[in-house]
Amino acid sequence: MLLTSSFWTKYFKVYDILNIFPPYQELLDTICERLRVKRGEKILDAGCGTGNLAMKIQERGGVVTGVDFCREALMICQRKNPHIKTVLTDLTKPLPFPDNYFDKVASNNVLYTIAKEKQIDVLRELNRVLKPGGVLVISNPKKGWSILKIYSSGFKHTLVEEGLFRTIKKMLLMLAPTLQMFYYNFKIKRGRHYYFFKSGEQRSLLFEAGFQKVSDDILLYGKQAILNIAIKWFK
Ligand SMILES: C[S@@+](CC[C@H](N)C(=O)[O-])C[C@H]1O[C@@H](n2cnc3c(N)ncnc32)[C@H](O)[C@@H]1O
Repeated sequence: MLLTSSFWTKYFKVYDILNIFPPYQELLDTICERLRVKRGEKILDAGCGTGNLAMKIQERGGVVTGVDFCREALMICQRKNPHIKTVLTDLTKPLPFPDNYFDKVASNNVLYTIAKEKQIDVLRELNRVLKPGGVLVISNPKKGWSILKIYSSGFKHTLVEEGLFRTIKKMLLMLAPTLQMFYYNFKIKRGRHYYFFKSGEQRSLLFEAGFQKVSDDILLYGKQAILNIAIKWFK
C-alpha cells in the first residue's frame, strides 16, 4: 500500500487525539528543546501534518513554515493556528525555497513514510534549504516498533501523574479514536512503501546527505522512535 495524501486525509480525522497522549507530547517537546528555538528564527517543519509540532515551535517564538503534500492536513493546521505559514508541496520534489533559507528544520514521523530510495534526496533537500551552522532535528519510529508499547508507556505515565480514575476516564474518551489509530497504524506497518530505521541507520543517512555533525540515536515515544540532531557545517 502506498501512503498517499488521501490515506493521510482519512487518518487525520482522528490523529489529533494524540494531543492528549503523553508520549507524543513528550516527543514534540523534546524536538522543540533540541531545536533550541530563538525568537524570530525561521523554522521549517517538514511534513507538518495538522501542525502539532509547528504550533509548539511557534509558541516558543519561531517563525514556522509547515510543508506537507496533504491539503486537508494543512487546512486543519491553518484552522488551528493561522500564524503558521503552510506550503502544499511534495518532499520528494525540489523544495520551493532558496539555498540556506531556514535557521532550523524539524521533521517528526515523516521520513519513514517515504520510499527508501527517495529518503536520501529528501534529506539532501532539507540540508540545502538549511543555513550553514543550522540544526535539523528528526525523529521516526524504529524498526520493529510496537504501538502497544507506545500506548502502555502513555498509560503508565497517566496513571502516575493523574491517578486511576482520571486514567480510566481518559482511556474511555480515547477508545474509539484509538481503535481507529490502531487500524491506520496496522495499515502503515503492513504497507510495503514505508521504511523503518534500524539503530544507527537514520544517523548514517544524515551523514550521507551532507550533515557534518550528527548525534547518537536518542530513543523516545515509549522507546519506539529514534531521534537524531544533525548540523549543517560551514563549508
Ligand atoms: C505521521 S504524519 C506526521 C505529522 C506531523 N509531523 C506530526 O508530528 O504530527 C506524516 C506526515 O507526512 C506527510 N507526508 C508523507 N509523505 C509526504 C511527502 N512525500 N511530501 C510531503 N508530506 C508528506 C503526511 O501527509 C503526513 O502529514
